[in-house]
Amino acid sequence: MSGTCVIGLQWGDEAKGKLVDLLAPRFDCVIRYQGGANAGHTVVAGDEVYKLHHIPSGILHSDVQNFITPGVVINPTTMLEEIDGLSARGINVVENLKVSERAHLVMPWHMIEDATINKVSVRGESIGTTNRGIGPCYRDKVGRTHAIRMIDLIEASRDERIATVSEQKTVLLRQLGATDEELASIAPEKMVALAASWAERLAPMISDTTDLILDAAEANQTLLFEGAQGALLDIDHGTYPFVTSSNSSGVGVCAGAGVPPKWIDHVLGVCKAYSTRVGGGPFPSELNDETGDKIRKLGNEFGTTTGRPRRCGWFDAVAVRYTARLSGVTRLALMMMDVLAHFEELKVCVAYELDGKEIHHVPAHADQLRRCKPILETIPGWNSPVDDARSMSDFPAGALAYVKRIEELVGVPVGILSVGPDRSQTIFTDKAAAMGLA
Ligand code: GDP
Ligand code: IMO
Ligand code: MG
Repeated sequence: MSGTCVIGLQWGDEAKGKLVDLLAPRFDCVIRYQGGANAGHTVVAGDEVYKLHHIPSGILHSDVQNFITPGVVINPTTMLEEIDGLSARGINVVENLKVSERAHLVMPWHMIEDATINKVSVRGESIGTTNRGIGPCYRDKVGRTHAIRMIDLIEASRDERIATVSEQKTVLLRQLGATDEELASIAPEKMVALAASWAERLAPMISDTTDLILDAAEANQTLLFEGAQGALLDIDHGTYPFVTSSNSSGVGVCAGAGVPPKWIDHVLGVCKAYSTRVGGGPFPSELNDETGDKIRKLGNEFGTTTGRPRRCGWFDAVAVRYTARLSGVTRLALMMMDVLAHFEELKVCVAYELDGKEIHHVPAHADQLRRCKPILETIPGWNSPVDDARSMSDFPAGALAYVKRIEELVGVPVGILSVGPDRSQTIFTDKAAAMGLA
């Protein structure tokens, strides 16, 4: 048995990147298996800050093999820029990264389509996507007729395939109201030349990652799966339609990576000690007041990919209990404890009130979730900094009481506590050992 998953349990940005980088040296392989450049994973290594979008967060460790697997959607232009940026900082990506031939490509027409999605009001508000072409690319993947995969780049039929799809997309996008300038940007000859340039640079990394990862697992190598987004953004199980287009909860790991369930033994559920959300959609414990502003300021809650201010609110134990159960979480990583260290009083959402009734589940309909009022439990704040805490014994009693209450409400023990962005600002609790991470 060899696999550990790092899964975000809220609406993304739970600090998965920090944890994957921190844990990577204990594993042979780090695997990004869904989403695409909508992800923005921050890794802080000493004075250096890396913002990763496609590239797995194990890349700073030269003896770890990194994989991007079939479930990921890749924009080759921006992935190559990311690779160049890392290379300029002395990180050898090409040798340490394998990219699945089955992964789908986010093409320039998907970027144009995504901009139209954001103009559409769904149940009164925009989804507020990251504008990275993610939804349109996954739509074409499922639709099959207009999809382009990594392997198409290195097949003899490449130019013909690219030209045909770009012609068809021009017709479709014209109907959707694309401008002449936008349509000129996806002219077949331009797309064919672009694909050829991608192929030349990506060829050394394109591989059958499914086979390589199965070989690794069968040879008793250890696998660390890096989730993107968060489980509440899961296409099937999240706050639909205000979600992303992939299975971002724990249930997505096997399909996206190409591994059978038997290779997964631990699931680390990552959550902030409060809640944030970026983009549209219901958020019952949201704070549209000074407290929300204070959390945003203290937590520097601005999007890693888009720079948008993140919406902030109290920890929602109803939502996290749901996503932890759904994802099979064996231990929690509770992040940003330092941010909550400056409040006299904290609140946690323990139930919702929906149309006059108390409920303990996340309703499937966005309108119902929007009508949910949070039932809040007040917990005394500890109001003293924890940035320098390096063990549980450094925590004030109030902080320990907060952690204990979260464990009770979610139903999963906390294995990791984080008190700042730096690798050193991490505490493995006495419950981390059972996860193989003591
Ligand atoms: P991801 O998408 O889940 O990888 O998370 P992001 O990188 O988008 O956002 C998390 C942010 O919080 C990053 O800027 C991290 O450097 C930062 N961070 C990580 N852990 C902590 C922590 O414990 N406290 C604080 N204050 N910041 C943290
Ligand atoms: P990481 O991996 C936070 C949100 C968008 C929008 C919705 C759909 O950094 O945690 P999409 O572009 O995927 O079609 O947008 O999902 N979203 C994220 N929010 N963190 C992310 O990734 C996100 N990826 C997508 O803001 O509401
Ligand atoms: Mg992020």
